[in-house]
Amino acid sequence: MSKMITPAQAETLCAWYRKNKRQLPWRDTGDPYDVWLSEIMLQQTRIEAVRDKFITFRKELPDIASLAACDDDRLMRLWEGLGYYSRARNLKKCAQAVMEKHGGKLPDTKEELLKLPGIGPYTAGAIASIAYAKPEPAVDGNVLRILARIAGCRDDIREESTKMNLAEMLDEAYAPDVNASDLTQALMELGQTVCVPNGVPKCDMCPWSSFCSAHLNNETAQIPYRSRLKERKIEQRTLLVIRDGNRFLLHKRSAKGLLAGLYEFYGLNGWLSEKEILKAVSDLGFTPLRIHPLPESKHIFTHLEWHMKAYEIMCEECSVLPDDSFLLAEKKELQFLAVPSAFRTYTDWYSLRD
Ligand code: ADE
Repeated sequence: MSKMITPAQAETLCAWYRKNKRQLPWRDTGDPYDVWLSEIMLQQTRIEAVRDKFITFRKELPDIASLAACDDDRLMRLWEGLGYYSRARNLKKCAQAVMEKHGGKLPDTKEELLKLPGIGPYTAGAIASIAYAKPEPAVDGNVLRILARIAGCRDDIREESTKMNLAEMLDEAYAPDVNASDLTQALMELGQTVCVPNGVPKCDMCPWSSFCSAHLNNETAQIPYRSRLKERKIEQRTLLVIRDGNRFLLHKRSAKGLLAGLYEFYGLNGWLSEKEILKAVSDLGFTPLRIHPLPESKHIFTHLEWHMKAYEIMCEECSVLPDDSFLLAEKKELQFLAVPSAFRTYTDWYSLRD
């Protein structure tokens, strides 16, 4: 079906990469932990957002043993802002499995890597090729876009069959004399800096433009074709910033589901009236003194949007909490709790973060 990428073409791309690659903190360190950690952080998160988080995380948890032993709250705090928190939980589970089954060293085959929690075909391919130079591709959206353009493929890139057909184009590229680590990273780099996802690709800078079907036929605006996603569900939420003097009420979300186990300002479904809110606050066992509205905000998850209205409710000093999923904490103590970025508007409002 599709054109195959030849080893010679792969080598051209690798040479371009060696000359043009950006310096990134996880690049060329020779440590598989760096490759793994960065790949997990970079799933669904932009490089700029990952850079500093990666450096801090790596400093705080310098090896797989320290990650495996890390307290959950501290782990969530280190992950804060990156979103998709189940990635962090799987990271720790995976670190524990690596300690138990592999003596603290990530395995070097795709097959063994795939058995670990949170490691799918893409990440396994990335670790095997980037860290261990194994001839295993790592095909993500960036790579699919490049391959679809090279082949002039107009099939829906959301379809599994399209992804499989495109991935097969790399079957001959990872030849013995091609540096697999460079090739995987070169494909990522090309997709991020030249064959870009939004806007016009920089074909004049591309080492593969001479045989790229979409470029030669002026079709880069049409290819890749991606069908539209289903619309996200919209949920109206009311957030309560309950305070007694200097303390804030935080609520630990349930251990399952959206933002599991993270801390939030107590939230209720729907947009409640002030009267309904005051009743809810009383039902929690607090005595409200004053209520006033805070800015509205939105947070977009993959399948869901929260449209939030928030209120500050100042209460009389409270000594009894409804249950142990709640806590009252002063600003300086809040620094150490993982509050997801869905609540950023309000953590910023009160300067609860450094
Ligand atoms: N995107 C996914 N993995 C990456 C990596 N290792 N370097 C740069 N961007 C990436």
